[in-house]
Amino acid sequence: MTTPDINPATQSSAALSSEIARRRTFAIISHPDAGKTTITEKLLLYGGAIQEAGSVTAKEGRSHTKSDWMSIEQQRGISISSSALTFEYQGRHVNLLDTPGHQDFSEDTYRTLTAADSALMVLDAARGVQAQTEKLFAVCRNRGIPILTFVNKMDRPAQDPFELLEQLEGILKITAVPLTWPIGDGPDFKGVYDLQTDQVLAFERTSGGKHRAPMQTSGLNDPKLDALVGADLAAKLREDIELIQGAMPEFEEAQFLSGELTPVFFGSAMNNFGVEHFLSNFVELAPPPGPVETNLGNRDPGAAFAGFIFKLQANMSKQHRDRTAYMRVMSGHFERGMDVTHTRTGRKLRLSQAHTLFAQDREKVEEAYPGDIVGLVNPGVFQIGDVISLDAKVALPSFPRFTPETFATISLKDVSKRKAFMKGLTQLAEEGVVQVFYPTDGARDPYLGAVGPLQFEVFQARLLEEYSVDVEVHVTSYGLVRWLAGDSDGVARFARHVEDDQGRPVMLFRSKYDLEYTAEQHPEIEFLPLPRDLTRV
Ligand code: G4P
Repeated sequence: MTTPDINPATQSSAALSSEIARRRTFAIISHPDAGKTTITEKLLLYGGAIQEAGSVTAKEGRSHTKSDWMSIEQQRGISISSSALTFEYQGRHVNLLDTPGHQDFSEDTYRTLTAADSALMVLDAARGVQAQTEKLFAVCRNRGIPILTFVNKMDRPAQDPFELLEQLEGILKITAVPLTWPIGDGPDFKGVYDLQTDQVLAFERTSGGKHRAPMQTSGLNDPKLDALVGADLAAKLREDIELIQGAMPEFEEAQFLSGELTPVFFGSAMNNFGVEHFLSNFVELAPPPGPVETNLGNRDPGAAFAGFIFKLQANMSKQHRDRTAYMRVMSGHFERGMDVTHTRTGRKLRLSQAHTLFAQDREKVEEAYPGDIVGLVNPGVFQIGDVISLDAKVALPSFPRFTPETFATISLKDVSKRKAFMKGLTQLAEEGVVQVFYPTDGARDPYLGAVGPLQFEVFQARLLEEYSVDVEVHVTSYGLVRWLAGDSDGVARFARHVEDDQGRPVMLFRSKYDLEYTAEQHPEIEFLPLPRDLTRV
């Protein structure tokens, strides 16, 4: 028997295609407290990435996932920085980009979403769509990525599930199609009905909060259902399902993939209920990495290697006091040690220091495929939005940046620490912990700008911990920043006080009224919420 001739190029492109097809890279978006940390942990548990839920590390007396790693996070019980967690499930390679849930850290979160191919939106069943869900949803919507919804905490008294779907449609303007339906809620929560497989997944409370195996029913009229959930809930379920099947839109894959329709699942992450069922649906529904828009047109994931930096992080852990750049592979096969070109500077780089990130644990990464996240040691060359590639000229057309809404001044407690202070300020601003605005007269310390005031606390704590610099932060009454554009003489006369870190003239305002008044007085100047020439953070 002769062995067929296999062209190595064909073989490797087939291998690349199959690796791309099995990648699922997603992020979780939610309002703080909806259960993102708990779901993350349970997903890792079912994905085999951790052995026991609740065993990972201690966060204010309760468990939390490995993605919460900084001491300030541990003190406050919140998740500040994003990291990437990876596991295999049903033959799929799942990358979960952990996004911080606190509303004050949204800038970092927003950026992380640029590296995701889909998002899981977690809602608290009692609270429904909340402010932070709306903001993060808007970012996903802008990117047009598919969104799946998990309604969590069904073991607590919940809103009517029909009302929750209405909220999704009314507030978020997305078609919501339930793929599972809850049977009762709060103390009466009995499980969910899978509309696609006509299966009841029964939930039983035990002291350990464990779930029960799915129960096969031969249909909604199966008398076993009454025995399992009680006659009243069974009757209610039949009524609900009739209504859904009669009056609600069906799941349409194309609409889901374009971000117009969200499939909705119900469950209770804390009780392990509905999470595994969600995960097995997720890996089937969520898309693999697709083409990325670049200056050279849409880049297919099967093209030669290219990746973009979406996040920078200094001082990841005490053992590794260095700077990490998180790169998402957008096309091709990444191999450790490969030589690439850094588009913005034209520099050739050898990527020998590559690692995956699982909280403080690092493992060397030998190879990666589109959708994967690789941590690269950043010798100071990378900026957010940068591209590295084999074909030198690839760049991203734009990268989102957000307008700060709160401003503070800082003063150094010990002026002899000025050098360390400047280093910390530059590196933390580069990461996007805060944005920095410099007074042009040089007399005062810079203004910090943030999306929310807790960012200042993080900045202050990290300066102290990582750079041994103690500063005082004074929140100012400024609430708006505008970049000035238009007639250059006019702008020059105007822009006496502040500029951004790239030297672009800006102006801070105390109120919308101040801004409107000033704009009316100076029609020759444009007041922009972001610099016009900005293509990256
Ligand atoms: P977040 O990351 O979105 O902020 O939410 P997180 O998972 O930290 O969950 C917020 C709180 O909600 C936690 O309670 C968590 O235990 C609880 N929770 C998560 N999922 C469920 C669920 O399915 N049902 C119920 N009843 N609660 C849930 P906590 O009080 O902060 O901590 P703990 O004392 O309960 O451990």
